[in-house]
Amino acid sequence: MDTKVLFQDASALATPMLAVFAVDIATGKDADPIPVLLNTSDAVTNAAEKFIRSGEFKAGLCETLLLHAPSGLKAERLLIVGLGKAKTLSVDEVRKGAGAAVRAAKPRAIRDIAIAFPEDHALSDEHLENLPCVMTSRALIEGAELAEPEWDTYRSDRKDLSVRSLTVVAKDGEALTNAEVLQGFHEGLILAAAQNFARTLVNEPGNILTPTEMGKRAKAMCDAAGLTCEVFSTAKLTELKMGAFAAVAQGSAEPPALIVMTYIPEGGVAPDAPVMGLVGKGITFDTGGISIKPADNMEKMKYDMAGSAAMIGAMQAIAALKPKVKVIGVVCSAENMPDGKAFKPGDVVTAMSGKTIEIINTDAEGRLVLADGLHYAKTLGCTHLVDAATLTGACVVALGYNNVGLFSNDEETWEKFMSGIPKSGESFWRLPCTDDYRDQIKSQIGDIMNTGGRAAGAVTAAMFLKEFAGDTPWIHLDIAGCAWNEEVKPWLPKGPTGIAVRSIVEWVRSYGA
Ligand code: BES
Ligand code: MN
Ligand code: ZN
Repeated sequence: MDTKVLFQDASALATPMLAVFAVDIATGKDADPIPVLLNTSDAVTNAAEKFIRSGEFKAGLCETLLLHAPSGLKAERLLIVGLGKAKTLSVDEVRKGAGAAVRAAKPRAIRDIAIAFPEDHALSDEHLENLPCVMTSRALIEGAELAEPEWDTYRSDRKDLSVRSLTVVAKDGEALTNAEVLQGFHEGLILAAAQNFARTLVNEPGNILTPTEMGKRAKAMCDAAGLTCEVFSTAKLTELKMGAFAAVAQGSAEPPALIVMTYIPEGGVAPDAPVMGLVGKGITFDTGGISIKPADNMEKMKYDMAGSAAMIGAMQAIAALKPKVKVIGVVCSAENMPDGKAFKPGDVVTAMSGKTIEIINTDAEGRLVLADGLHYAKTLGCTHLVDAATLTGACVVALGYNNVGLFSNDEETWEKFMSGIPKSGESFWRLPCTDDYRDQIKSQIGDIMNTGGRAAGAVTAAMFLKEFAGDTPWIHLDIAGCAWNEEVKPWLPKGPTGIAVRSIVEWVRSYGA
């Protein structure tokens, strides 16, 4: 999408479609909705007034109303997009509302659109209390960009319904406010592009996006973004004694890829400065291996590399946003296959850390590749770790599709991560990983087992990883329920979500502001 910001009265903008937000300012539980436009232009208000007052439009979140030939406006159409109650308004509603505007344009083949930056018509900004300018601008452009892709690349009958251009039109305010709108716009474009890149990777089928191909795409991104990138395979896993990662990879005809992406801020960093380690699970297809999965829904397991995609996307955004902190991205990519050479239940493998792992179930492969990835990141000097993985079905059972399961071994690190959430707008729910769960993965045969039984499956998976994070402050994100959107939403198509990219970037930035 071609995007720009114009500072002018929205009514004077010639565009096929102008979208304007509205909120419901009615208070009290059973009160009739009172929709109010979030725009300061009298002409826009007049054009919408009759419909706003009709009672047909309630300004519910992502509720839309399309008017043709609105009187007094240069726009051919006026789209009113509800953001819900004024009282509960936040930048998250703006993100969704902007997405809904783009998704309203697409089926109508409207190729060029404008969205009015939310402004309060009242003299005070009482309805916009929770919309700081930078964040609002950022969320608006994020929502619009994320709503655009269709994920129908492989359909011969695909129709090009893309929105080609988006103009954000904001009133010409004080220089400072205008600068804030532009800053948010700039950041939002970077974050959305990174997230869309991650989604593109997640959308690819397993036969196209092999570990080798993921290495190539990461390398191409790094070359373009100015990051260093090394892509290793089997020989390096052997050299580093990554016995857990190698065990998962050994049953596949596709060689594994260990991808290391490095960002160093301009001017370097102090020797005692934090180094952020971003570790991703990159199983390009998870059959379960010898502990093979049922056929039903197995095709979904192409997205078992969404954690890696999030890290690759995050590195792209970090390269552009340039925080003053060193960041190393480590991607552990392999295909989990049943084969004559595959690893088996009962096998004992030695991880890079030296710990021996008794394999109980070859379908618990994610934690194996991450065990070596986390340990390796520490040997590269990482002082803070985050991993993202579509790790357990148990996390989907526990939290469903609305919250990422979050685990941490360090309160301060968890608090820092959570402080970025109002900006990213992504949802996380913390689950425990206290040592009283450790017994469930105790092994008779080796140091640790790779599964811990039916109870608390997401927790025991986290407990396994915690063993390899050791004393290093660490966050684990189980994104199994949030990496793929199964139901179309007014602001988002079905398909890959690119979850966690924005929050991980925000967390990294909080160490290098
Ligand atoms: N990739 C799966 C987890 C998964 C399930 C992701 C559903 C997305 C949607 C993971 O490798 C896996 O198979 N986990 C097993 C662990 C079990 C064997 C302990 C699971 O969740 O069943
Ligand atoms: Mn598995
Ligand atoms: Zn898996």
